[in-house]
Amino acid sequence: MSVDLLQQWRRTHNCGELRRKDAGAQVLLMGWVQRRRDHGGLIFVDLRDRYGIVQVVFNPATSPQAHAKAHSLRSEYVIAIKGEVALRPPGTENPRLATGEIEIIVHELKILNESRTPPFPIEDEAEVAENVRLRYRYLDLRRQRLQENLILRHRAAKVVRDYLSSQGFLEIETPFLTRSTPEGARDYLVPSRLNPGNFYALPQSPQLFKQLLMISGFDRYFQIVKCFRDEDLRADRQPEFTQIDVEMSFVDADDVQNCIEGMLEAVFREILGVELKRPFPKMTYQEAIAKYGLDRPDIRFGMELVEVTDVASRSSFQVFTRAVEGRGVVKGINLKGGGDRSRKEIEELIEVVKVYGAGGLAWIKVDTGGWASPIVKFFRPEDLREISDRMGGEPGDLLLFVADRAKVVNEALGHLRLHLAKEKGLIKEGTYQFLWVVDFPLLEYDEQQRRFVAVHHPFTAPKDEDLALIKDAPLKVRAKAYDIVLNGEEIGGGSIRNHRVDIQRLIFETLGIGAEEAEAKFGFLLDALDYGAPPHGGIALGFDRLLALLCGATSIREVIPFPKTQKATCLLTGAPANVDPQQLKELHLKIDI
Ligand code: AMO
Ligand code: AMP
Repeated sequence: MSVDLLQQWRRTHNCGELRRKDAGAQVLLMGWVQRRRDHGGLIFVDLRDRYGIVQVVFNPATSPQAHAKAHSLRSEYVIAIKGEVALRPPGTENPRLATGEIEIIVHELKILNESRTPPFPIEDEAEVAENVRLRYRYLDLRRQRLQENLILRHRAAKVVRDYLSSQGFLEIETPFLTRSTPEGARDYLVPSRLNPGNFYALPQSPQLFKQLLMISGFDRYFQIVKCFRDEDLRADRQPEFTQIDVEMSFVDADDVQNCIEGMLEAVFREILGVELKRPFPKMTYQEAIAKYGLDRPDIRFGMELVEVTDVASRSSFQVFTRAVEGRGVVKGINLKGGGDRSRKEIEELIEVVKVYGAGGLAWIKVDTGGWASPIVKFFRPEDLREISDRMGGEPGDLLLFVADRAKVVNEALGHLRLHLAKEKGLIKEGTYQFLWVVDFPLLEYDEQQRRFVAVHHPFTAPKDEDLALIKDAPLKVRAKAYDIVLNGEEIGGGSIRNHRVDIQRLIFETLGIGAEEAEAKFGFLLDALDYGAPPHGGIALGFDRLLALLCGATSIREVIPFPKTQKATCLLTGAPANVDPQQLKELHLKIDI
C-alpha cells in the first residue's frame, strides 16, 4: 500500500507518529516548515502538522536535487517529502519530541505551496499582541496550545453527548431566527425582508423552546448550542457563546443537579483523569453573600467576610456611624499575617475596592500589645477586642473594613478577598472546587427601570413555601433556582420552571408585564402551558467557561476558534461591516447615525 501512496504523492504517515520501530520504512510526509537549519552540508527541517513535529534531513551527497531545492524553504511553506526513516545518530536524539529518536532522510522534495513571512512565529512561546493574533487567527490556530485547546473542546463535547445520550437525553435543535427571550442582555436583531419592519431576535438561550419541548413530551432534552447576547464583554463573556443546554420533565432541583454532576464527573475523568468528589457541596445564596460577598464564591480558601455593624455603630468613627445610620453595614476581612504591610501598601488596596463603589478602606493592625491604626482612637478597647475576636485576629494580622450599603460592601470585600488571595498565593492551583449556590431570590429591584426584574429569568418557579409572600414582600421570595460555580466562576445556572399558567401569569404581573404585553410577547408560552405542561426544570452550562477552566486558560477566547474582541468585532473578517445600500433597501431600513 505504502508504495502506491508513494507513487501518487499521498501521505503515508503524519508528522507525529513515526518512532524507533519504523526505522528503515519508506514514507511520504506532508506538512508545514516549522524551521529550517543549515548545518554546513546538511539542511534540517522541522516538519509540522497537527499531530506533531518530525525532523527531516537533506543530504547533498545522497540527494543533491532535493538538497538544492531545500535552500529555498522558508517558515510555513507547505511541502511533501519522500524519504526513509532513520535512527538519529547517538547523542542527537531530542527527548522533548515524541519523534525525537528518528529523522527522515529525504530523497525527494515537492513544494506544495509557499508562504509569506508570518507576522509572528508559530510557537507557543512567542509573545504576540492579541489583536495581531485575532487578525491572523488561522495562523494563531496553527500553534500547539490552541490546537490542543480545540482538540480538548471536541473531546469534551463528545463526552457530554455520550454521557447525556446514555442517560436517555435527546439532542434537539431549536431555531436561531426567533423571538426575543429575556435573559437579561440586549438582543441581536435580524430584519425580515419578507415582513418589512419586523425583526427576528437571535436567541439569548433556547429557554422557551426547551420548555416547549417538555410540553411536547420529549422528557429529556439537551443541546450544545450557540447563544447570542449583546452585552458588555469581559474575559469570560462573548457576544456569541456556547451552552450545554439541558431540560428535564418530572424532576426537582436535586434531580437536575445530580444529572449535571454525573456529566461533569464523566468530563473530568475522561479529559483530565481527575475524580470529582460527589455530591458537590451546596450553599444558599444568602450564605454565599454573607460570607464571600459574591454569589459565586471561591471556597478554595477562607478569609471570610465578618459583619461588625453592631460594634461599629458604638464607635465615634464617622465613616462607620454614618454608614450604619444610612441603613448600611460594616464588614471586614482578616488578612492573616498582613500586619507588616506599610501604610502605603494598605492604601493601594483602596483602588481595588473603589471599583465597586466603596468610598475607602479602613484598617486595623493587630499587635501583641493591642491595635494600631489611625482609627483606633474612635473605639473603646472592649469594642476593638470584640471586633478582633470575631474576626479571629491574632498578632500580625491586618483587619480591613468597608462601610456602605450592603451591596457595595459585599462586592468590594468579595473582590478584595479574591485579589488578596491571588496576590498571596493562597489558592491551590490544579484543584477543582465545585459548589451549588441555591435558593436565589426570585426578584430584585432595578433602580433604573424602577421595577422588579427576575434574578434568573421570568420562567423560574418560586419556592412553594414563599409564594404567599409575593404580593407583600416580593423581594423575600426565594426561587427554585441554582447556579453551579467552579473555582469561583459561574459555569452554569438553571431552575425549576413555572409549569402552571396561573403562577406564570402572576410572575409576569409582579414583573410589571401587563396581561396585554404578556399575551403579545409570551402568548405562545402561556397557551402551551395551558395544554398539559408537565412539571419541568433544567440548566445551562457555559461550555466555553468550562473549557477555559479545563485548559487552565485565562480567557474564554483561548478556547473559541474565532472569538470576537471586547468591542464585539471580528478582526479576521472585519465584521460587523457596512452593507450595500441595495441590501438595506430590500429590508426597508435606513441608517441614521
Ligand atoms: P444563564 O443566562 O445563566 O442561563 O446562562 C448559562 C451559562 O452560560 C454562560 N454564559 C456565558 N458565557 C460566555 N459568554 C456570555 N456572554 C455568557 N452568558 C452566559 C455562563 C452561564 O452560567 N436559559 C438559562 C438556563 C436555564 O435556566 O436552564 C440561561 O441561559 O456560564
Ligand atoms: P476619611 O474620613 O475620608 O479621611 O477616611 C478615613 C479612613 O476611612 C481612610 O483610611 C479611608 O480609606 C477610610 N474610609 C473612607 N470611607 C470608607 C468606607 N466607606 N468604608 C471603610 N473605610 C472607609
